[in-house]
Amino acid sequence: MSSVTIVGAQWGDEGKGKIVDWLASRADVVVRFQGGHNAGHTLVIDGEIYKLSLLPSGVVRKKISVIGNGVVVDPQALLKEIARFKEQNIEITPQILKVAENCPLILPSHVALDQAREKARGEKKIGTTGRGIGPAYEDKVARRAIRLCDLTEPETLDWRLDELLTHHNALLASMGEKTFTKAEVVAYLADIGPKVLPFMAHVPELMAEYQAQDKFILFEGAQAIMLDVDHGTYPFVTSSNTVPSQTGVGSGTGPRAGGYILGIAKAYTTRVGEGPFPTELFDDVGKYLGEKGHEFGTITGRARRCGWFDAVLVKRAVQVGGLDGLAIMKLDVLDGLKEVKICIGYELNGQQINRFPYTLEAQKRLKPIYETMPGWDQSTYGIRDRSELPDAANKYITRIEELTGAKVSIISTSPEREDTIMSGDLLV
Ligand code: GDP
Ligand code: IMO
Ligand code: MG
Repeated sequence: MSSVTIVGAQWGDEGKGKIVDWLASRADVVVRFQGGHNAGHTLVIDGEIYKLSLLPSGVVRKKISVIGNGVVVDPQALLKEIARFKEQNIEITPQILKVAENCPLILPSHVALDQAREKARGEKKIGTTGRGIGPAYEDKVARRAIRLCDLTEPETLDWRLDELLTHHNALLASMGEKTFTKAEVVAYLADIGPKVLPFMAHVPELMAEYQAQDKFILFEGAQAIMLDVDHGTYPFVTSSNTVPSQTGVGSGTGPRAGGYILGIAKAYTTRVGEGPFPTELFDDVGKYLGEKGHEFGTITGRARRCGWFDAVLVKRAVQVGGLDGLAIMKLDVLDGLKEVKICIGYELNGQQINRFPYTLEAQKRLKPIYETMPGWDQSTYGIRDRSELPDAANKYITRIEELTGAKVSIISTSPEREDTIMSGDLLV
């Protein structure tokens, strides 16, 4: 096997970073292909914690780490993250980090627009990370974006900025917000450009070389399929395509580069930000999951909403993502519960439905239909061999396979890199 694609199968924060890091021991190259520094991936290695936001998780193992054109890059956030890693004795050099020339940039005005829009939405807010992700993708599609390579051509940058600022300032002014002068943006880019340009690379050519050399490539998804702009719980989604089909578009490698497609799911469900969440728990079990699972945002620190595993949604992720297998994460968080529940369908207006509806009012009215299974008392924390799992935990995993139609290839039992069970057909 020469490549594996890792994507979230729920609403994010499933533990993608841990699995990318674990698989990266065998990989040569790790590639981000969408999203930006809205992602927050936490790795725990011998007790030391590493937090990644824009950088591919491969940097921790000093693997070649590629930021593809599908990623929106905030140059300031990139430099801050590189500096943070330096403090943890990980030097990120242009030999390791390759940022595509045609990555659209996130500028301070994108951040201002994101935050102003959220404020204006009031109760209807999306709960974005406030990092300018949505406005930056809008500008890319509207053909207004400033790309990394544009920083090398002052004459191009000049008219591109005029176009961009005319648009941004009109919007900001209409919401009563501070506008940006061209002089201040030019000064900002003149300062930051020379610091980020050494990382710029012609990514499609590099990727073709890696493929020709039969290097093992890991594609690291950010966010998750339920946050995909087409297939997620629109409009409560992020602004990129998070499905595995995006790997080729977002890195210039064509449609067949992704290899084995692994969806990452928690043994329960969490969501951060607004939007529908049929199995959300507001009781003591929800609190238990949040506390035991330390369900707080990696970067933003926001509390994550918690609930039972939703097999209907994960089955949809398996379908629209073409997932070959699942990794079930944080099984240990369910230890000690008397019973565990899996959502197998919904009740809507007195009728049972087996699919998640697209309409917003219908989504709000969904009542989950649960299958209840016995829980387990024993601790699964740190187990590395499937045969050591309690029977009830094994049955729970098998039921997830039956209900979602996907094999469980990996089970994770702690935040630590090595506390991972390989249980399926991945890497055989
Ligand atoms: P990502 O965004 O998908 O990479 O996930 P995050 O890093 O945002 O959130 C996952 C959190 O769960 C992190 O704090 C991980 O250290 C932690 N984690 C990952 N796998 C496990 C596991 O199997 N058990 C426990 N208890 N924690 C885990
Ligand atoms: P990782 O990679 C969880 C959510 C935000 C918000 C919506 C839109 O760590 O799994 P955005 O700033 O992208 O416009 O926000 O998407 N969101 C995430 N939720 N994990 C993430 O990334 C997320 N990235 C964005 O909370 O609801
Ligand atoms: Mg995260």
